Amino acid sequence: MSTDTTTPGTPVLPEVKMNAVKPTAPVIGRVVSNELCTAGRKSAGFVRHISIDVSGTPLAGNCRVGQAFGVVPPGEDRNSKPHKPRLYSLASPTAGEDGEGNVISTTCKRAVDEHWETGKLFLGVASNYICDLAPGDEVRVCGPNGKRFLLPDDPDQHEYIFFATGTGIAPFRGMVQDLIAAGVTGRITLIMGTPYATDLLYHSMFLDMEQKHENFTYLTAVSREKQDDGHSKLYVQDRLDTHAEQLLPQLRSEKNLIYICGIAGMELGIFKQLAKILRGSELEQYLVCEPEALADIDNWDRKMLHKQVKPTKRMLLEVYA
Ligand code: A2P
Repeated sequence: MSTDTTTPGTPVLPEVKMNAVKPTAPVIGRVVSNELCTAGRKSAGFVRHISIDVSGTPLAGNCRVGQAFGVVPPGEDRNSKPHKPRLYSLASPTAGEDGEGNVISTTCKRAVDEHWETGKLFLGVASNYICDLAPGDEVRVCGPNGKRFLLPDDPDQHEYIFFATGTGIAPFRGMVQDLIAAGVTGRITLIMGTPYATDLLYHSMFLDMEQKHENFTYLTAVSREKQDDGHSKLYVQDRLDTHAEQLLPQLRSEKNLIYICGIAGMELGIFKQLAKILRGSELEQYLVCEPEALADIDNWDRKMLHKQVKPTKRMLLEVYA
């Protein structure tokens, strides 16, 4: 167990199992279900929720929310080598989809593109393999991986603001379920960003949870069209502005943690917005900034992150290109 509790509110993260199944010796899981994560078929992208039964393998009971697992697609790459495993975030709670740690799940977006030189259709190997799997199919899996992007050991000691874009929602689906199952009483806020409202993932599930749990708030930020609340072209960090009255007290709480998951670059916008609305020790809970940086927040760029602008351990990040 981590022992760094020097700064108030620093989370103590649990020890987790890593590579219970090595990538070189994957085990067989069996697909339980494969469903669209969006409400209808109007979304331009295809994102699917795939559940895999790993019972009887070392993955069973050893996957903690916030971790990832590996999927090994069949076949060979262009160098005639077997495909390497691809990592996918767990979308399932720690107890699994079945409550017993036997069924893990992920949120997978089909990679569909054009070859940038030839202009021909390009289909991502692993994502399309996974999205095409049918219940009953066998799939080679390994892992789990990741020991930093976790919920704290004692979740009730904290409050939570989760920022997600796109499939970055995956770990938060499981985390919110874990926190509610643990009976956490503090505030839990999830802010989800997508291009269009039709891209919102697990939307009805989160709306339903918000109805049932007073301490859970679900906010959306749609970037390319007007939202139901009249706001248009919002990024997740803009919710810190539109909902400042609601979010500032939570941000100021010594118990609060911030989790960010999704598109690389989103953390910069969130950091900037935090630096604009929080002062002195309030901001230092999350970011340690050099004075010169604080004098010119609008011009922060990603190169400054972890140098002139350093996130503290109260800010947990998982961003990808
Ligand atoms: P946009 O693409 O309109 O600029 P998806 O993964 O489904 O494409 O969704 C990613 C979401 O994150 C989109 O709404 C996208 O907006 C938004 N986004 C892109 N860049 C940033 C950024 N730097 N900060 C916050 N949100 C971003």
